[in-house]
Amino acid sequence: MSEPIEVQIRLNGELVTLELDARTLLVDAIRDAARLTGTHVGCRTGHCGACTVLVDGSTAKACTVLAASVDGAEIVTIEGLAAVDELHPLQEAFWQEHGLQCGFCTPGMVLASLELLRENASPTDTEIRRGLSGNLCRCTGYAKIVSAVRRGAEAMSTGAEPGQEAREE
Ligand code: FES
Ligand code: FES
Repeated sequence: MSEPIEVQIRLNGELVTLELDARTLLVDAIRDAARLTGTHVGCRTGHCGACTVLVDGSTAKACTVLAASVDGAEIVTIEGLAAVDELHPLQEAFWQEHGLQCGFCTPGMVLASLELLRENASPTDTEIRRGLSGNLCRCTGYAKIVSAVRRGAEAMSTGAEPGQEAREE
């Protein structure tokens, strides 16, 4: 292993400094160094989207990103969407619509949906499917995921997202 490097990120609102091998992928930094295991690892090839996180507000597949390259960035994982004792409206919508079965793809699906709805508050089903085309689910057949995003869009249109004000300050 080469000499460790320090990478400082704001992770779910908290400033953290991680000592990492320079070759560490962001997904491994999040799961192994920061101990946040809500970000999943499926393929490690950029295809499945299980490792999706927000980097400075945009989705990124964390298995394709070197942790060192996001030094100074703001990272949001599924754990950062809402307080521990509440659900983000999108998470609530996935629950209500049964938009998951095993749940392996769900953190990535929720974060990809969030980016989609921030850009398009009222997407059609086709736009939802296109927006989530980088995220694979082996269980649901996608119909309930689309319903969940539709429901989440309605919920988000009626109130501010938790943490939205803080992010915009
Ligand atoms: Fe990153 Fe599949 S684990 S895209
Ligand atoms: Fe199992 Fe999507 S719910 S992979």
